[in-house]
Amino acid sequence: MAVSATPRPFLKWAGGKTQLTDALMARMPPAFGTYHEPFLGSGALFFRLYRERKLRRAILSDINPELIDTYLAIRDQPAAVIQLLAEFPYDKTFYYQLRARNPWEMSLAERAARMIYLNKTGYNGLYRVNRQGRFNVPFGRYKSPRYFDPENLLAVSRALQQAEIICAPFESVLTRAQAGDWVYFDPPYMPISETAHFTAYHADGFGLADQARLRDVCLRLTEMGVGVMVSNSDVPDIRDLYGRPCFRIDTVFANRAINSNGARRGKIAELVIVNYDCAGRSFDLRPRHMPDQHKAKTGANKPAQQTGEALPHEAQSQAGIA
Ligand SMILES: C[S@@+](CC[C@H](N)C(=O)[O-])C[C@H]1O[C@@H](n2cnc3c(N)ncnc32)[C@H](O)[C@@H]1O
Repeated sequence: MAVSATPRPFLKWAGGKTQLTDALMARMPPAFGTYHEPFLGSGALFFRLYRERKLRRAILSDINPELIDTYLAIRDQPAAVIQLLAEFPYDKTFYYQLRARNPWEMSLAERAARMIYLNKTGYNGLYRVNRQGRFNVPFGRYKSPRYFDPENLLAVSRALQQAEIICAPFESVLTRAQAGDWVYFDPPYMPISETAHFTAYHADGFGLADQARLRDVCLRLTEMGVGVMVSNSDVPDIRDLYGRPCFRIDTVFANRAINSNGARRGKIAELVIVNYDCAGRSFDLRPRHMPDQHKAKTGANKPAQQTGEALPHEAQSQAGIA
């Protein structure tokens, strides 16, 4: 079977970054060691970096064990996963039978095939679990859902051969990252309104205290000489958390669902935060301890757009996602 040279995300994931990847690529450091993605989801940026041959080594992690097992199965047993998916019919009764099965009583390949099938045939491609951690998304009505895509799964498997894949909370990146590495953090976003349930990825949710812990991890990584890039919603809490001289805050625009049922879409401002000078030739971390007076003069705490700082690809990336 032909292996596509262009692996793409094989899951639909809330908060997936496919349409933001131009803006993220424009802000990657010029050079880096290992790439870390600790809020992996569907891995849109990892696959883009792989396709553009920017990766030497990658460590991918997420707190969701079913998600991580799906990646492990595709990396290590792609033929078994593909064979199972080939036998799954697109049928409502089958969907509910498969959904009712306990994934932790299935083999690794079966668990992965179940995850891919439910993700691609369930309503809106959501991953949602109830309080007991059981997947509870209803059947979705599609003309021909693409859960059987062997070419892409083989390409994904090949891309994952060079990746370490770990089920872990984001803080554990501190024990793995080394000076010169690059970490992309794409946490569950801070909600922009009461009806935007962007935090429902995992039974535990992700609140302001978690966002603050993430910011502290970014400060620690800065001290270690590790480059970080963070995406999040453009809300005052996030601007406050990252309002430090070592961070540069850019505003980008993404096309997102703008009400709770996803029926209306519109351009939403989001933030991309980095701790390095991405326009330079080297991997320069931004100065951490700038005196307040200097900070006020240079406006180093303000978003780049307000300070007039521009990235080389700023115009293209803004246009790309507008
Ligand atoms: C916004 S999504 C990432 C989307 C991803 N960038 C993509 O392109 O699909 C956030 C991810 O963070 C994971 N997550 C939530 N809390 C976490 C935690 N404490 N540690 C690590 N991962 C976490 C969720 O399981 C989810 O997959």
